[in-house]
Amino acid sequence: AACGGGDDKKDSQTTLEKVKEEKTLVVGTNAGYYPFEMFDKNGKMIGYDMDVAQAIADKMGAKLEVKQLGFETLIPSLNAGKVDLVLAGMTITDERKKTVEFADSYYTTGQAVMVGKDSTAKEIKDIDKKGNKVAVQIGTTGAIVAAKEIKNATVQEFEDFPTAAMAAQQGKVAAVVYDEPAIQIYELQNKGKVVKLDGLLAADDLGIAVKKGDTETVDFINEYLKEFKGSKEEKELQKKWFNN
Ligand code: ARG
Repeated sequence: AACGGGDDKKDSQTTLEKVKEEKTLVVGTNAGYYPFEMFDKNGKMIGYDMDVAQAIADKMGAKLEVKQLGFETLIPSLNAGKVDLVLAGMTITDERKKTVEFADSYYTTGQAVMVGKDSTAKEIKDIDKKGNKVAVQIGTTGAIVAAKEIKNATVQEFEDFPTAAMAAQQGKVAAVVYDEPAIQIYELQNKGKVVKLDGLLAADDLGIAVKKGDTETVDFINEYLKEFKGSKEEKELQKKWFNN
């Protein structure tokens, strides 16, 4: 919409155009999903996603601004134009695809189960008992999978992963269901206090979310991901954050 009114222009502008013009990329995320997004001791958001976000910002010629939001508010914030992209280890699902676009998946993982050290559960199926509570983060695929796969126990929602994991650690709930990388790191950092059970409840392909209909910005990110996947940069990031 050349020469259109201000609002006219805003409506038709892609995120990519807007970011290039404003020279700032605003990324929405939710801390506590190790090693993708977490606060360092100085209160700076760091992690695998933040390095990917920085690379995308660089490619767009913009500086990166990160917004910490509740996980369940990320998609509404994207649709309201409060953030330009969501990088939050967000699983690509058909349900979410109704309201946002996803670029190609950049990481594959799944839903793991972790219990406190005093738990008698040896296998995932052992936690599925009447009277048991299973902790999840509100709005996540873990919440959906727990409700679906764990029939007898009840699901209890927590605001973020660290508080859900702590509830399991303290035996306030029977287990926590969450993405495997975060559970693995939590277990490493709390050795002897929690145990990750073997196996996964479901698979998750993580993707970067873009405003609905903005296929130009999706294409731009996919171009970046094509260069990134299998590159030296990807290997370095995996080594840095996953130590492999
Ligand atoms: N992959 C899961 C989902 O999409 C959990 C992601 C949680 N991410 C976060 N930044 N807290 O529902």
